[in-house]
Amino acid sequence: MADDLCFFSKDSFIFKAPKKSSLVLRMLVLGFVVVCSVYIYEVCLKQFGFSGKSELFDVEVVEKPCMKPNIELWEVPYVHYPKPKTYSRAECVCNPVRYFAILSMQRSGSGWFETLLNNHTNISSNGEVFSVKVRRSNVSMIIETLDKLYNLDWLSSASKKECTAAVGLKWMLNQGVMQYHEDIVQYFKTKGVSAIFLFRRNLLRRMISVLANSYDRDAKLLNGTHKSHVHSPHEAEILARYKPSINATSLISSLRQVEDMTAKALEYFKSTRHMILYYEDIVKNHTELFDVEDFLRVPQRDLYSRQVKIHKGPLSSQIDNWEEVEKALKGTHYESLLHGDYKK
Ligand SMILES: *[C@@H]1O[C@H](CO)[C@@H](O)[C@H](O)[C@H]1NC(C)=O
Ligand SMILES: *[C@@H]1O[C@H](CO)[C@@H](O)[C@H](O)[C@H]1NC(C)=O
Ligand SMILES: *[C@@H]1O[C@H](CO)[C@@H](O)[C@H](O)[C@H]1NC(C)=O
Ligand SMILES: *[C@@H]1O[C@H](CO)[C@@H](O)[C@H](O)[C@H]1NC(C)=O
Ligand SMILES: *[C@@H]1O[C@H](CO)[C@@H](O)[C@H](O)[C@H]1NC(C)=O
Ligand SMILES: *[C@@H]1O[C@H](CO)[C@@H](O)[C@H](O)[C@H]1NC(C)=O
Repeated sequence: MADDLCFFSKDSFIFKAPKKSSLVLRMLVLGFVVVCSVYIYEVCLKQFGFSGKSELFDVEVVEKPCMKPNIELWEVPYVHYPKPKTYSRAECVCNPVRYFAILSMQRSGSGWFETLLNNHTNISSNGEVFSVKVRRSNVSMIIETLDKLYNLDWLSSASKKECTAAVGLKWMLNQGVMQYHEDIVQYFKTKGVSAIFLFRRNLLRRMISVLANSYDRDAKLLNGTHKSHVHSPHEAEILARYKPSINATSLISSLRQVEDMTAKALEYFKSTRHMILYYEDIVKNHTELFDVEDFLRVPQRDLYSRQVKIHKGPLSSQIDNWEEVEKALKGTHYESLLHGDYKK
């Protein structure tokens, strides 16, 4: 379109002014060509998504004054030096920062896992940022939120500010992750965000937790306050008194649905830098957390959480209609969920 416009102007000019001196004519034609070239150049820039502003920004990013020579080449895309708008990183301005996202499902231990990560002086995981619907109402809102968070401008109780070396959030798969997966994967790859998948092996135990948590949202068993996580064995015991009844008819399809979503998420994000964790494995072996620290490139530390597990002991004591559930799962692919924490 731009070309047509320019050629048309040039032709019509030549047509209308055939008798002017040839030098002036040539100068004017030259002038038009220059103007047209600049115009086409700008149109091209816009089409390829560049703008003067982002060009300037790129230049700023390129001249990283803090780049340390001991970073391996593969790591370069994952290393950042954010400049928060609201404060200065002070003495830690040259500490590299890694971006991460904990991708999980409700009641999979991600709250507990996040408190563990936040016990590290150099990790800031800012909670379930996308539980607020407006922040995930479309891709541009999601990107705006992530940009702010990764630039260390998201101030939550977890943010360590200056000396953060790994910044991230907890993000449930049903909070836009699956819906906008293409754009999010693209964002993760261009911005160098690493994904930490956290799943639960025993999906039946997870289901009990989902039902009990949903019940407590209305019942508010702890002095009229709904709590999803507790910090004392006493509170845990009160919450665990409620025994949900599980719909045995829809049980298998519900379990399958969760499995399918897990598989799909892993497929979508397989091209990003990621690690996969299971809640039960971390409970059994805290040294798994060292792997997470290595993955995030923060120094290894022992990590502590004050949270207390709500549902303990055999499943038969936690489900109201245990016989029905047992009957529904016996002889199926899911039978092992009835026993221990593990699915074979
Ligand atoms: C980590 O947990 C321990 C034990 O609860 C506590 O003393 C320490 O202050 C915590 N560190 C951070 C950074 O939260
Ligand atoms: C995205 O959602 C926000 C908030 O709901 C709205 O203000 C904005 O116009 C939307 N943008 C697009 C591109 O749809
Ligand atoms: C971790 O934080 C401490 C201050 O709390 C800081 O001295 C140290 O340099 C930070 N480490 C990294 C790897 O950023
Ligand atoms: C409810 O509140 C009372 C008084 O504040 C306290 O003694 C009790 O432990 C609380 N119960 C629970 C379950 O939090
Ligand atoms: C159990 O699930 C089945 C199939 O989804 C449904 O038709 C039925 O109404 C459910 N029963 C209860 C008590 O919710
Ligand atoms: C605990 O996990 C670490 C690393 O993930 C592994 O090397 C170790 O063998 C595990 N220990 C046990 C007792 O399973």
